[in-house]
Amino acid sequence: MADLDDLREGSNFGIGKPVENQAFYLKGSDNLSWGMKDRLARIFRPDTGRTVMLAFDHGFIMGPTSGLERIDLNIVPLIKYADCLMGARGIIRSSIPANSNKAICLRSDAGTSILTELNHNVVIDVKDAVRMNASAIAVMASIGDAATEATTVANICRAVDAGQEYGIPVMGVTAVGKDMARDARYFSLASRMCAENGANIVKTYYCEGFSKVIASCPVPVVIAGGKKLPELEALELCYNAINEGALGVDMGRNVFQSDAPAAMIQAVSAVVHDGLTPQQGLELFNDLK
Ligand code: R5P
Repeated sequence: MADLDDLREGSNFGIGKPVENQAFYLKGSDNLSWGMKDRLARIFRPDTGRTVMLAFDHGFIMGPTSGLERIDLNIVPLIKYADCLMGARGIIRSSIPANSNKAICLRSDAGTSILTELNHNVVIDVKDAVRMNASAIAVMASIGDAATEATTVANICRAVDAGQEYGIPVMGVTAVGKDMARDARYFSLASRMCAENGANIVKTYYCEGFSKVIASCPVPVVIAGGKKLPELEALELCYNAINEGALGVDMGRNVFQSDAPAAMIQAVSAVVHDGLTPQQGLELFNDLK
């Protein structure tokens, strides 16, 4: 119990100084709960408003793919350079040190593998995200795929209901439907559908006319990296996406399949957060590797 014999009366009330109401810095997020904002602020750096998410959830559908054979050797050394780690619960629990103190975006749908038909997923219990202190949960929507579109959009809705209950943001992951063109019209539709159904972040792909995707999506958008590219092209992808309004990247293969993953994630971070051009990013990559 506090000492009672030296109770000092407060005198510094700032009388006449109005309390400043601060708008939250992320697009479309001002009306979210305190817990949601706190979690988003762990993902998107408050000083830049952007994020570098390191994606290594690939194994949940494709097993030990190139660059992810050993998470302890391939991913753990990169943790310090990422703002947020995106993975599935089994790999995070088994292989990511719990004292990493990084935001976790927990891949929260699971189902079929690359051996059968993708995207027949169900959503895992949000309580597991709570137990893992996740800053967001990621759930995929397969827009344009007649077989799985309705189920996966329902998954987003279920995840949003659960996320709202516990203050955990949902990242809608746009999986490209089998017959869809990878263009701005398609990604605008898919991103907007995720946001309209309540996703607080959307992960999609960069494309020509990307600024339309950004303009029509009311919440922060991050881009996936996609298949491995030469480093300069991957850095150009990041640079263009950021310049056209993405608030970050959720990048996997272009980092962990690089010849020098630690150098690559630092170069990506410098483009995303520090405004380096792709060429400057490549020079940094070459210096660090
Ligand atoms: C896609 O559903 C996976 O969730 C990956 O996290 C995502 O594609 C990002 O990884 P990459 O940069 O390798 O495309």
